[in-house]
Amino acid sequence: MIGTPWSDRSVVVTGGTRGIGRGIAELFARRGAAVLLTGRDEAVARAVAAELVRATGGRVDGVGVDLRTPASVETMAAEAERRHGHIDVLCANAGIFPERPLREMTAADIDEVLAVNLRGSILSVRACLPAMERAGRGRVVLTSSITGPTTGYTGWSHYGASKAGQLGFLRGAALELAPLGITVNAVLPGNVRTEGLDALGEDYLRRMAASIPLGRLGETTDVAHAVAFLASDEAAFITGQTLTVDGGQTVPESLDALALPLVPAAVSG
Ligand SMILES: NC(=O)c1ccc[n+]([C@@H]2O[C@H](COP(=O)([O-])OP(=O)(O)OC[C@H]3O[C@@H](n4cnc5c(N)ncnc54)[C@H](OP(=O)(O)O)[C@@H]3O)[C@@H](O)[C@H]2O)c1
Repeated sequence: MIGTPWSDRSVVVTGGTRGIGRGIAELFARRGAAVLLTGRDEAVARAVAAELVRATGGRVDGVGVDLRTPASVETMAAEAERRHGHIDVLCANAGIFPERPLREMTAADIDEVLAVNLRGSILSVRACLPAMERAGRGRVVLTSSITGPTTGYTGWSHYGASKAGQLGFLRGAALELAPLGITVNAVLPGNVRTEGLDALGEDYLRRMAASIPLGRLGETTDVAHAVAFLASDEAAFITGQTLTVDGGQTVPESLDALALPLVPAAVSG
């Protein structure tokens, strides 16, 4: 068969109330999948789901889930199964990125970032596993980042550790779940225009856009399409892998490299 029968698919998106997660939820809804999105506040999650239903004409529900609480994460999987009967795709996307210079970083700061970004991802996969196991197939797509796995950024060392940690988890999980027909992959976004990124200020956004070869910040749809590919039937033979979605940001070895003309004048003339 060519093409994934999305209308048969049940998709869970953590952190779907805003930003990249909302973009992922919207794309799957447009394709006809049944989507369950999460955010910490149940009312907000439901309101966003209702907005997406109006925008897409699709099937979207929202539930309140705090990834820091294991019991809450278990509820997410139970709700997805109760509403949709099965779970085919988990997009473990929710994450936080508070800036904290190392000198000022407290143990609580570290715990918070690791609890949401790393432990929360692992708990989400564990919670959805029984449903995928029963189905004999499944797709897990983690939202990691270029920060940590590929690059570093002053003020975000704990965040980078959490995002690199997701990839260590991914590789072990991919091996463990392969015999069950479940693939585990990750997208590594660069700088994507979201509410979370906007909070870093106009100056940051301007400087960041200038360092991206394709000349713009990412859109949530750029990441959503990469996630949808890794979640599709067409990606059945891909597991334990990462897909960078950064407009080429991690390619130049220096700012000079970025400033060079793409085609030498002698050739272009
Ligand atoms: N934006 C970028 O440029 C960029 C780049 C690389 C990687 N990423 C990664 O992409 C993911 C999404 O980022 P974003 O920019 O879209 O962020 P965002 O706009 O700040 O949205 C974050 C989402 O995570 C949810 N969330 C936060 N804390 C949570 C918790 N304790 N339990 C459950 N959900 C929680 C939020 O829901 P509520 O607030 O409703 O609870 C929200 O839906 C993150 O993993 C981030 O690390 C982003």
